[in-house]
Amino acid sequence: MNFLEQRIMKDGVVKEGNVLKVDSFLNHQMDVSLMNEIGKEFHRRFADRPVTKVLTIEASGIAIAYAVANEFNVPMVFAKKSKSINLEGEMYVAEVESFTHKNRNNVIVSKKFLNADDHVLIVDDFLANGCALQGLISITESAGATVEGLGIAIEKGFQIGGRVIRNLGYRLESLAIVDAMDHTTGNITFRKQ
Ligand code: G4P
Repeated sequence: MNFLEQRIMKDGVVKEGNVLKVDSFLNHQMDVSLMNEIGKEFHRRFADRPVTKVLTIEASGIAIAYAVANEFNVPMVFAKKSKSINLEGEMYVAEVESFTHKNRNNVIVSKKFLNADDHVLIVDDFLANGCALQGLISITESAGATVEGLGIAIEKGFQIGGRVIRNLGYRLESLAIVDAMDHTTGNITFRKQ
């Protein structure tokens, strides 16, 4: 087991409805040392890529993206969620549907902060159905920039997102892939990678 899988085993809580609570260390209270370790690990995995920018989506992706960008010594940009629709012009916009929250958001990035010369590493804390990642890919490609890869802390391997993104031909690295979890026993099964 790697460091993140070990931490999930120690402090993650399996909830009904296939929800994994990691709010004591990843997405509410944040363990800063763990974030730094995640940053170093993604830097190691994508060291062969000419990354110029790290892109994520608010809110919980920001800490991971910061740690990764710090390792690459490049800027980090986070897409903002917005209810407004009249954003065309100075913003790249993608519509993201959340299956978990059953709502839709426009996610936006200012055209000032992504351009055709950029080589983008997209990161986020969770990958479930992949809507957020697809929105970030769409924004990157609207800018004419190159998606160098995608780094995810926790992928829920039993939801479709990972398969969809890999089938599209992107390089997706997930530090922990949960293939099954059981809220009655608390058991979590990780995919061997
Ligand atoms: P998708 O983007 O992969 O399609 O995911 P989905 O719509 O299903 O998930 C919506 C939100 O719920 C995302 O955060 C995602 O990270 C989170 N999520 C999905 N499954 C789990 C889970 O098992 N445990 C936890 N803790 N979160 C999960 P978000 O709405 O963008 O929230 P935030 O980043 O602002 O916190």
